[in-house]
Amino acid sequence: MARYHRYLAPDAARTFLAARVLLRSLLSRYGSLSPTAWRFLANPWGRPYLANEETLPGLRFNLSHKPGFVTCLLGCDRELGVDVEDRTVERHHLLAIAQRFFSPAEVRDLMELPQLQQPERFYELWTLKESYIKARGVGLGLGLSKFSFTVRGNTARVQFDPGFPDDAARWSFQLFRPDGEHIMATSLERVGSEAAVIEKGDGNDVVRRGIEMA
Ligand SMILES: CC(C)(COP(=O)(O)OP(=O)(O)OC[C@H]1O[C@@H](n2cnc3c(N)ncnc32)[C@H](O)[C@@H]1OP(=O)(O)O)[C@@H](O)C(=O)NCCC(=O)NCCS
Repeated sequence: MARYHRYLAPDAARTFLAARVLLRSLLSRYGSLSPTAWRFLANPWGRPYLANEETLPGLRFNLSHKPGFVTCLLGCDRELGVDVEDRTVERHHLLAIAQRFFSPAEVRDLMELPQLQQPERFYELWTLKESYIKARGVGLGLGLSKFSFTVRGNTARVQFDPGFPDDAARWSFQLFRPDGEHIMATSLERVGSEAAVIEKGDGNDVVRRGIEMA
């Protein structure tokens, strides 16, 4: 509540509140605590995790929000990350941003596309890269240009530069377009040979009810 009251912009405050209500309500669906009872700690890079982990052993979650849109990914015994972006935001220097943050292979992929298709691919690559960074939990210091995504429909493959400390085979990636404005990517660690199945839900009612009850 203290953080909520520090927001000066009402939209940002509402989005922050919705993210908390969504996360706490979802945790209470799976664990035996009430929404207000969950406590969080953060790793050195700011990634929140459950302080009451014994209530839900192995549970992982990740939040992503843009003004007016909140998403929360939960899973068990695997690393995971999610990112959402508003793909209707026009970026005039799209290729310059890509050249700064993407790998050379991703920049080539983007530049080979007809100009009209470039914004969509830009957001696909952006959300995939962010969701992976978030799944690792160690922030941007990991080096955004040291791994490359290849998009195939709503899935993607990753290739790491030689010496990059990860194994591409342990991840699965998905892209979602939940409405006309947003694009979302998830990075999920595989457990065994099976890729995880993501069960989607609309959190509007959960958030509305949670705010009414608070
Ligand atoms: C902070 C960062 C983890 C995500 O930033 P973002 O995309 O602006 O924000 P999102 O809404 O997707 O995610 C924010 C949430 O991620 C979680 N988070 C914070 N630090 C995290 C970390 N190190 N790892 C994973 N999750 C983290 C938090 O729950 C946070 O929400 P909260 O503050 O309300 O609790 C980080 O990746 C970042 O600073 N990105 C900057 C954007 C950029 O330059 N991107 C280049 C893309 S190619």
